[in-house]
Amino acid sequence: MTHVDLQSLVDDIAGEMAREVVRGKVADYIPSLASVSSDKFGITIIDHAGDCYSAGDAHSPFSVQSISKVFSLTMALGSVGDALWTRVGREPSGSPFNSIVQLESEHGIPRNPFINSGAIVVADVLLASYKPSEILGEFIRFMQMVAGDDTIHIDKAVAQSEQATGFRNVALGNYMRAFDNIVHPVEQTLGTYFHFCALSMSCQQLAKAGRYLMCGGRRHPGTADTIISQQRARRILALMMMCGHYDGSGEFAYRVGLPGKSGVGGGILAVAPGIASIAVWSPGLNSHGNSQLGMIALERLVQRTGWSVF
Ligand code: DON
Repeated sequence: MTHVDLQSLVDDIAGEMAREVVRGKVADYIPSLASVSSDKFGITIIDHAGDCYSAGDAHSPFSVQSISKVFSLTMALGSVGDALWTRVGREPSGSPFNSIVQLESEHGIPRNPFINSGAIVVADVLLASYKPSEILGEFIRFMQMVAGDDTIHIDKAVAQSEQATGFRNVALGNYMRAFDNIVHPVEQTLGTYFHFCALSMSCQQLAKAGRYLMCGGRRHPGTADTIISQQRARRILALMMMCGHYDGSGEFAYRVGLPGKSGVGGGILAVAPGIASIAVWSPGLNSHGNSQLGMIALERLVQRTGWSVF
Protein backbone atom coordinates (compact mmCIF):
# COMPACT_ATOMS: atom_id res chain seq x y z
CA MET A 1 0.00 0.00 0.00
CA THR A 2 2.80 2.35 0.82
CA HIS A 3 6.37 2.68 -0.30
CA VAL A 4 7.31 4.95 2.57
CA ASP A 5 10.40 3.84 4.52
CA LEU A 6 8.70 3.38 7.90
CA GLN A 7 11.87 3.59 10.00
CA SER A 8 12.81 6.93 8.41
CA LEU A 9 9.22 8.06 8.89
CA VAL A 10 9.15 7.40 12.64
CA ASP A 11 12.65 8.89 13.05
CA ASP A 12 11.54 12.03 11.19
CA ILE A 13 8.34 12.37 13.22
CA ALA A 14 10.20 11.90 16.53
CA GLY A 15 12.71 14.57 15.45
CA GLU A 16 9.93 16.98 14.52
CA MET A 17 8.09 16.38 17.80
CA ALA A 18 11.27 17.04 19.81
CA ARG A 19 11.30 20.55 18.29
CA GLU A 20 7.62 21.35 19.05
CA VAL A 21 7.26 24.11 21.62
CA VAL A 22 3.54 23.83 22.44
CA ARG A 23 3.48 20.45 24.18
CA GLY A 24 0.17 20.50 26.14
CA LYS A 25 -0.31 20.10 29.86
CA VAL A 26 0.54 16.92 31.78
CA ALA A 27 -2.47 15.51 33.71
CA ASP A 28 -2.11 16.47 37.36
CA TYR A 29 -5.46 15.34 38.79
CA ILE A 30 -3.85 11.93 39.32
CA PRO A 31 -0.87 12.94 41.51
CA SER A 32 1.47 10.17 40.38
CA LEU A 33 1.10 11.25 36.72
CA ALA A 34 1.95 14.90 37.41
CA SER A 35 5.70 14.29 37.65
CA VAL A 36 6.13 12.84 34.13
CA SER A 37 8.13 15.17 31.84
CA SER A 38 6.34 16.67 28.83
CA ASP A 39 9.65 16.37 26.92
CA LYS A 40 8.91 12.71 26.26
CA PHE A 41 7.78 11.45 22.89
CA GLY A 42 7.66 7.88 21.62
CA ILE A 43 6.24 6.15 18.57
CA THR A 44 5.98 2.54 17.34
CA ILE A 45 4.45 1.19 14.14
CA ILE A 46 3.91 -2.55 13.72
CA ASP A 47 2.92 -3.43 10.19
CA HIS A 48 0.84 -6.33 8.90
CA ALA A 49 3.95 -8.49 8.45
CA GLY A 50 4.82 -7.96 12.13
CA ASP A 51 7.80 -5.70 11.43
CA CYS A 52 8.31 -3.12 14.13
CA TYR A 53 9.51 0.49 13.69
CA SER A 54 10.19 2.59 16.80
CA ALA A 55 11.65 6.00 17.61
CA GLY A 56 12.10 8.34 20.57
CA ASP A 57 10.95 7.05 23.96
CA ALA A 58 9.15 4.06 22.43
CA HIS A 59 10.51 1.66 25.02
CA SER A 60 9.67 3.75 28.12
CA PRO A 61 6.68 2.46 30.06
CA PHE A 62 3.88 4.96 30.71
CA SER A 63 0.44 4.86 32.30
CA VAL A 64 -1.97 3.51 29.70
CA GLN A 65 -5.02 4.95 31.51
CA SER A 66 -8.12 5.04 29.27
CA ILE A 67 -6.50 3.03 26.47
CA SER A 68 -7.11 0.07 28.81
CA LYS A 69 -10.84 0.60 28.08
CA VAL A 70 -10.33 -1.05 24.65
CA PHE A 71 -8.97 -4.20 26.29
CA SER A 72 -11.47 -4.39 29.16
CA LEU A 73 -14.24 -3.98 26.56
CA THR A 74 -12.76 -6.85 24.51
CA MET A 75 -12.76 -9.06 27.62
CA ALA A 76 -16.31 -8.09 28.62
CA LEU A 77 -17.65 -8.82 25.11
CA GLY A 78 -15.88 -12.17 25.35
CA SER A 79 -17.62 -12.87 28.67
CA VAL A 80 -21.19 -11.69 28.08
CA GLY A 81 -21.37 -10.94 24.33
CA ASP A 82 -23.98 -8.51 23.09
CA ALA A 83 -25.79 -8.59 26.46
CA LEU A 84 -23.25 -5.91 27.40
CA TRP A 85 -25.22 -3.40 25.31
CA THR A 86 -28.16 -3.46 27.70
CA ARG A 87 -25.92 -1.71 30.24
CA VAL A 88 -23.84 0.64 28.10
CA GLY A 89 -24.54 2.44 24.81
CA ARG A 90 -22.61 2.80 21.57
CA GLU A 91 -23.00 6.50 20.81
CA PRO A 92 -20.46 9.30 21.11
CA SER A 93 -21.12 11.44 24.16
CA GLY A 94 -19.86 14.81 22.97
CA SER A 95 -18.99 15.38 26.64
CA PRO A 96 -15.75 15.27 28.64
CA PHE A 97 -14.47 11.80 29.60
CA ASN A 98 -15.48 12.16 33.26
CA SER A 99 -18.87 13.84 32.75
CA ILE A 100 -21.91 12.83 34.81
CA VAL A 101 -24.63 14.97 33.18
CA GLN A 102 -26.06 12.53 30.61
CA LEU A 103 -26.48 9.79 33.20
CA GLU A 104 -29.40 11.56 34.86
CA SER A 105 -31.74 11.70 31.86
CA GLU A 106 -30.41 8.42 30.41
CA HIS A 107 -31.25 6.23 33.44
CA GLY A 108 -27.68 5.53 34.51
CA ILE A 109 -26.75 3.97 31.14
CA PRO A 110 -23.44 5.48 29.94
CA ARG A 111 -23.27 6.57 26.30
CA ASN A 112 -20.34 4.28 25.43
CA PRO A 113 -17.69 2.00 26.99
CA PHE A 114 -14.83 4.46 26.42
CA ILE A 115 -15.93 7.26 28.76
CA ASN A 116 -15.21 6.75 32.46
CA SER A 117 -18.80 5.85 33.39
CA GLY A 118 -18.95 3.27 30.57
CA ALA A 119 -15.66 1.65 31.55
CA ILE A 120 -16.77 1.49 35.20
CA VAL A 121 -19.83 -0.49 34.03
CA VAL A 122 -17.54 -2.74 31.96
CA ALA A 123 -15.44 -3.41 35.09
CA ASP A 124 -18.66 -4.26 36.97
CA VAL A 125 -19.68 -6.68 34.19
CA LEU A 126 -16.29 -8.40 34.38
CA LEU A 127 -16.68 -8.78 38.16
CA ALA A 128 -19.67 -11.04 37.44
CA SER A 129 -17.49 -13.27 35.24
CA TYR A 130 -14.33 -13.47 37.33
CA LYS A 131 -13.73 -13.75 41.07
CA PRO A 132 -12.61 -10.42 42.58
CA SER A 133 -9.35 -12.05 43.65
CA GLU A 134 -8.68 -13.24 40.09
CA ILE A 135 -9.89 -10.41 37.89
CA LEU A 136 -6.67 -8.36 37.83
CA GLY A 137 -4.62 -11.49 37.17
CA GLU A 138 -6.98 -12.37 34.29
CA PHE A 139 -6.66 -8.85 32.88
CA ILE A 140 -2.86 -8.91 33.06
CA ARG A 141 -2.77 -12.38 31.49
CA PHE A 142 -4.99 -11.12 28.66
CA MET A 143 -2.71 -8.13 28.07
CA GLN A 144 0.42 -10.30 28.14
CA MET A 145 -1.22 -12.74 25.72
CA VAL A 146 -2.35 -10.14 23.14
CA ALA A 147 0.99 -8.32 23.32
CA GLY A 148 3.07 -11.50 23.48
CA ASP A 149 5.03 -10.00 26.36
CA ASP A 150 4.97 -11.39 29.90
CA THR A 151 6.60 -8.33 31.49
CA ILE A 152 3.45 -6.18 31.22
CA HIS A 153 2.13 -5.22 34.66
CA ILE A 154 -0.09 -2.84 36.63
CA ASP A 155 1.60 0.06 38.45
CA LYS A 156 0.13 -0.26 41.96
CA ALA A 157 1.32 3.22 42.98
CA VAL A 158 -0.69 4.79 40.12
CA ALA A 159 -3.78 2.75 41.07
CA GLN A 160 -3.48 3.86 44.69
CA SER A 161 -2.91 7.48 43.67
CA GLU A 162 -6.14 7.35 41.67
CA GLN A 163 -8.03 5.57 44.38
CA ALA A 164 -7.09 8.34 46.80
CA THR A 165 -8.20 11.18 44.52
CA GLY A 166 -10.81 9.70 42.14
CA PHE A 167 -13.77 11.57 43.62
CA ARG A 168 -15.49 12.05 40.28
CA ASN A 169 -15.28 8.36 39.48
CA VAL A 170 -16.68 7.56 42.94
CA ALA A 171 -19.57 9.90 42.14
CA LEU A 172 -20.14 8.20 38.76
CA GLY A 173 -20.08 4.76 40.39
CA ASN A 174 -22.54 5.69 43.12
CA TYR A 175 -24.82 7.48 40.69
CA MET A 176 -25.03 4.43 38.43
CA ARG A 177 -25.49 2.19 41.49
CA ALA A 178 -28.63 4.20 42.26
CA PHE A 179 -29.96 3.12 38.82
CA ASP A 180 -28.92 -0.51 39.52
CA ASN A 181 -26.42 -0.34 36.67
CA ILE A 182 -23.59 -1.14 39.10
CA VAL A 183 -24.34 -4.37 40.91
CA HIS A 184 -21.15 -5.02 42.90
CA PRO A 185 -20.01 -2.90 45.85
CA VAL A 186 -19.04 0.42 44.26
CA GLU A 187 -15.66 0.35 45.99
CA GLN A 188 -14.86 -3.05 44.48
CA THR A 189 -15.92 -2.04 40.97
CA LEU A 190 -13.93 1.19 41.16
CA GLY A 191 -10.88 -0.60 42.57
CA THR A 192 -10.98 -2.89 39.52
CA TYR A 193 -11.42 0.06 37.13
CA PHE A 194 -8.53 2.04 38.69
CA HIS A 195 -6.20 -0.95 38.41
CA PHE A 196 -7.11 -1.44 34.72
CA CYS A 197 -6.23 2.25 34.12
CA ALA A 198 -2.93 1.85 35.99
CA LEU A 199 -1.62 -0.61 33.41
CA SER A 200 1.95 0.32 32.52
CA MET A 201 3.12 -0.23 28.93
CA SER A 202 5.54 1.18 26.38
CA CYS A 203 4.62 2.25 22.84
CA GLN A 204 6.17 -0.93 21.54
CA GLN A 205 4.10 -3.13 23.88
CA LEU A 206 0.93 -1.19 23.12
CA ALA A 207 1.37 -1.40 19.35
CA LYS A 208 1.88 -5.15 19.73
CA ALA A 209 -1.26 -5.41 21.86
CA GLY A 210 -3.25 -3.64 19.11
CA ARG A 211 -2.32 -6.21 16.47
CA TYR A 212 -5.48 -8.28 16.88
CA LEU A 213 -7.53 -5.21 15.97
CA MET A 214 -5.37 -4.63 12.88
CA CYS A 215 -5.65 -8.29 11.84
CA GLY A 216 -9.44 -8.74 12.00
CA GLY A 217 -9.33 -10.42 15.41
CA ARG A 218 -6.39 -12.73 14.72
CA ARG A 219 -3.11 -12.49 16.57
CA HIS A 220 -1.13 -12.86 13.34
CA PRO A 221 -2.32 -12.49 9.77
CA GLY A 222 -2.84 -15.74 7.92
CA THR A 223 -3.19 -17.94 11.02
CA ALA A 224 -6.17 -19.46 12.78
CA ASP A 225 -4.94 -17.99 16.07
CA THR A 226 -8.11 -16.03 16.82
CA ILE A 227 -8.53 -13.69 19.78
CA ILE A 228 -11.94 -12.34 18.74
CA SER A 229 -14.12 -12.65 15.63
CA GLN A 230 -13.57 -10.39 12.65
CA GLN A 231 -16.98 -8.83 13.18
CA ARG A 232 -16.17 -8.00 16.79
CA ALA A 233 -12.81 -6.49 15.83
CA ARG A 234 -14.57 -4.27 13.27
CA ARG A 235 -17.13 -3.19 15.82
CA ILE A 236 -14.52 -2.29 18.44
CA LEU A 237 -12.71 -0.22 15.80
CA ALA A 238 -16.00 1.53 14.94
CA LEU A 239 -16.42 2.47 18.60
CA MET A 240 -12.83 3.72 18.72
CA MET A 241 -13.48 5.93 15.70
CA MET A 242 -16.68 7.40 17.12
CA CYS A 243 -15.88 7.56 20.84
CA GLY A 244 -12.15 6.97 21.40
CA HIS A 245 -11.23 10.60 22.00
CA TYR A 246 -14.34 11.74 23.94
CA ASP A 247 -15.49 15.21 22.87
CA GLY A 248 -12.35 15.36 20.70
CA SER A 249 -13.40 12.31 18.64
CA GLY A 250 -14.71 14.33 15.70
CA GLU A 251 -11.49 16.34 15.53
CA PHE A 252 -9.37 13.17 15.68
CA ALA A 253 -11.39 11.54 12.87
CA TYR A 254 -11.14 14.74 10.81
CA ARG A 255 -7.40 15.18 11.25
CA VAL A 256 -6.15 11.57 11.51
CA GLY A 257 -8.92 9.40 10.04
CA LEU A 258 -8.05 6.23 11.97
CA PRO A 259 -9.82 4.46 14.83
CA GLY A 260 -7.91 5.48 17.96
CA LYS A 261 -8.07 5.47 21.74
CA SER A 262 -6.37 7.98 23.99
CA GLY A 263 -5.47 8.02 27.67
CA VAL A 264 -4.62 10.84 30.09
CA GLY A 265 -1.14 9.34 30.46
CA GLY A 266 -0.57 10.81 26.97
CA GLY A 267 -0.75 7.60 24.97
CA ILE A 268 -2.81 6.94 21.83
CA LEU A 269 -3.36 3.55 20.19
CA ALA A 270 -4.40 3.94 16.54
CA VAL A 271 -5.19 1.16 14.08
CA ALA A 272 -5.02 1.19 10.29
CA PRO A 273 -7.13 -1.92 9.62
CA GLY A 274 -5.18 -4.58 7.70
CA ILE A 275 -2.12 -2.30 7.57
CA ALA A 276 -0.65 -1.27 10.92
CA SER A 277 -1.02 -0.94 14.67
CA ILE A 278 0.46 2.33 15.91
CA ALA A 279 1.17 3.62 19.42
CA VAL A 280 2.34 7.13 20.25
CA TRP A 281 3.08 8.70 23.61
CA SER A 282 3.63 12.25 24.73
CA PRO A 283 2.35 13.20 28.19
CA GLY A 284 1.20 16.80 27.51
CA LEU A 285 -2.56 16.91 26.86
CA ASN A 286 -4.83 19.23 24.89
CA SER A 287 -8.03 20.71 26.32
CA HIS A 288 -9.96 17.46 25.66
CA GLY A 289 -7.50 15.36 27.67
CA ASN A 290 -5.90 13.85 24.56
CA SER A 291 -2.15 13.88 23.82
CA GLN A 292 -1.23 17.16 22.12
CA LEU A 293 1.80 15.85 20.22
CA GLY A 294 0.42 12.34 19.86
CA MET A 295 -2.37 13.67 17.69
CA ILE A 296 -0.03 15.87 15.61
CA ALA A 297 2.33 12.93 15.12
CA LEU A 298 -0.49 10.68 13.92
CA GLU A 299 -1.79 13.40 11.62
CA ARG A 300 1.65 13.66 9.97
CA LEU A 301 2.01 9.89 9.79
CA VAL A 302 -1.30 9.56 7.96
CA GLN A 303 -0.49 12.46 5.61
CA ARG A 304 2.76 10.74 4.62
CA THR A 305 1.44 7.16 4.33
CA GLY A 306 -2.14 7.68 3.12
CA TRP A 307 -3.38 5.30 5.83
CA SER A 308 -6.60 7.19 6.63
CA VAL A 309 -9.58 4.86 6.34
CA PHE A 310 -11.39 7.54 4.32
O1 DON B 1 -10.58 7.61 35.49
C1 DON B 1 -9.80 8.46 35.09
O2 DON B 1 -10.03 9.66 35.13
C2 DON B 1 -8.49 7.97 34.50
N1 DON B 1 -8.09 6.75 35.14
C3 DON B 1 -8.61 7.68 33.04
C4 DON B 1 -9.08 8.85 32.24
C5 DON B 1 -8.51 8.91 30.88
O3 DON B 1 -7.48 8.36 30.56
C6 DON B 1 -9.20 9.82 29.97
N2 DON B 1 -8.41 9.98 28.79
N3 DON B 1 -8.13 10.78 28.06
